[in-house]
Amino acid sequence: MTPDLALPSSLLEALGRTRRLVVLTGAGTSAESGVPVFRGGGGLWEGFRPEDLATPEAFARDPVRVWRWYRWRLERVQAAEPHAGHRALARLEASNRLRACTLVTQNVDGLHQRAGSRLVLELHGNITRSRCTSGCGVARPAETVDPERAECPCGSGMLRPDVVWFGESLDPGVLGQASLRIEEADMVWVVGTSALVHPAAGLPGIALQRGIPVVEVNPERTPLSGAVPYSLRRTAAEGVPALVEGILGPRTNSF
Ligand code: OAD
Ligand code: ZN
Repeated sequence: MTPDLALPSSLLEALGRTRRLVVLTGAGTSAESGVPVFRGGGGLWEGFRPEDLATPEAFARDPVRVWRWYRWRLERVQAAEPHAGHRALARLEASNRLRACTLVTQNVDGLHQRAGSRLVLELHGNITRSRCTSGCGVARPAETVDPERAECPCGSGMLRPDVVWFGESLDPGVLGQASLRIEEADMVWVVGTSALVHPAAGLPGIALQRGIPVVEVNPERTPLSGAVPYSLRRTAAEGVPALVEGILGPRTNSF
């Protein structure tokens, strides 16, 4: 399927020259797979906003409630399938057409990896895993944790989702790696993020400062839209395959 999306000729030229690409993805990238975004009605659960549940304080106060929310989200993630945008990114990496093709995601759903992408920097962790709050090293698949009995076998902590919560720091190694990849990139795509939550929201700024082409793919305007040279008002499943075709050329087989 060829997406019905004509890209500006200057963008097509830049895509043709691209050797080192970084793709930053946010919740909107998973929306067409059926995973709700955070901001805008769909993110509410039993009347709670993510900002009220995804915090260390919320977990300390009511771990059962927080775990029930994560188990609900995990079920939606497990029922979701990667879409054409995820698959196009995996195809681009596998083609070896680029010298570097790095995905930096704020998503915790693992859909990029399920589509076949290998180099994925997860800024906010992964919902399918849990780890002990005491740092004892115990880690379990999240689906095996009983929300009512989340005490860690070590006796001094609780098993919690292995994600970054509001008020917590991102893994400096992962964030540093993401920044470095953007420092070395000659093109950055920003797909499906409201560009509001820092430090992830600051990453496109590194690319803008360097003056390399930045392409936003988002059906809505964001704080980034006015600052980037290319802002495509398209969904991830429409816009990303078109950009990938801009690098690889039109698809000729059914893969
Ligand atoms: P948000 O929910 O803040 O924003 C989702 C963005 O996706 C919005 O700009 C939408 O316009 C856009 N969008 C919606 N449908 C889309 C589609 N089909 N294709 C492309 N874009 C679409 O999500 P994030 O920016 O990822 O943090 O949020 C950042 C962080 O805030 C999350 O990682 C999470 C959250 O609370 C933590 O959990 C720490
Ligand atoms: Zn423990």
